[in-house]
Amino acid sequence: MLLLSKKEMQSVFSMKDAVQAAKEAFVVYSAGKANIPLRINLDVAKHHGQTLFMPGYIEEINCSGLKVVSVFPGNAAKGRPTTPATMLVVSGETGEVAAILDGTYLTQLRTGAVAGAATDLLARKDASAGALIGTGGQAAAQLEAMLTVRNLTTVKVFSLNAEHGKQFVDRMQIELACYGAAISLAGTAAEAIAGADIITTVTTAKSPTFDGRLVKPGAHINAVGSYTPQMQELDEYILVHADKFFVDAKEAAVEETGDIIIPLRKGIINEGRIAGEIGQLLQGQVAGRQNAAEITVFKTVGLAVFDIMTAKRILDKALEAKVGTAVSFN
Ligand SMILES: NC(=O)c1ccc[n+]([C@@H]2O[C@H](COP(=O)([O-])OP(=O)(O)OC[C@H]3O[C@@H](n4cnc5c(N)ncnc54)[C@H](O)[C@@H]3O)[C@@H](O)[C@H]2O)c1
Repeated sequence: MLLLSKKEMQSVFSMKDAVQAAKEAFVVYSAGKANIPLRINLDVAKHHGQTLFMPGYIEEINCSGLKVVSVFPGNAAKGRPTTPATMLVVSGETGEVAAILDGTYLTQLRTGAVAGAATDLLARKDASAGALIGTGGQAAAQLEAMLTVRNLTTVKVFSLNAEHGKQFVDRMQIELACYGAAISLAGTAAEAIAGADIITTVTTAKSPTFDGRLVKPGAHINAVGSYTPQMQELDEYILVHADKFFVDAKEAAVEETGDIIIPLRKGIINEGRIAGEIGQLLQGQVAGRQNAAEITVFKTVGLAVFDIMTAKRILDKALEAKVGTAVSFN
């Protein structure tokens, strides 16, 4: 059994590798080749927490996996992470646990890569300006993902908390300097998205984070944050007026996210508004962007298939490079 830390994972696996793994996962999911049961959410009322168990099996890579991710807001006061996560990779051949990975980093990487893959498929090839709304735990990987798939010259970042936003931008200017983009802080969401070709919103918002009327023709939007019926980031105007609206998993998306559930309930959209899953686009079953003026939108709720595929690809590379700590019960 191999233990893999964030640093070890980073040493063998890039965001570009993760975008490739996300594309593979999109296809196996939409082709019905992955067994992804509903996740189990356990309430831990005593500590106002919740622990989620996300299992799945992908026959093509002969591998199953389980991510255990908790949401314990009270941890912040204890100096502990509020959403700790651990990933188990289980061999499809022997059923033995083959690896244990830092699930917090895996989540950031694969969630960035999922939006990155959608951006790679849907954004204009000549996209040069990016916008990022939200500067929490997922934000750095989202930013790196958009920089990985397009040659952006500028990215404007909006944070509700200006001080936190400044710290984030300062850190990103150093950590992502290799991409050569000018990363700066915007005072408002409107300022961030003005002229943006790619917009990613990754927040815990319960109401839209930007005004859809201000989106430039030809832009591509990723909505990453909302995963409950009460959470909403996407402006309803943009859902109605976008040319193409894609999701990662149609069934999960219409049941889990307020980005879709709220406008569905209001009767502003119907399920026919969803053009399809990115996996269907990758298999040529539905059409993507048709011209440079279309506005495309991608909504992800996240699925175990992305964790398992990414973790397996990381494990393969770690074994090849002899990276990680081997542990055994014997
Ligand atoms: N789609 C997926 O697969 C996936 C995976 C992981 C996390 N998530 C979700 O993404 C969201 C963000 O995750 P995180 O770890 O970065 O959270 P976080 O708590 O670390 O950060 C949340 C960020 O949202 C900002 N925010 C909240 N309301 C806002 C508003 N109205 N306008 C602008 N900014 C606002 C906060 O200021 C903060 O920067 C969470 O809801 C999380 O559950 C989705």
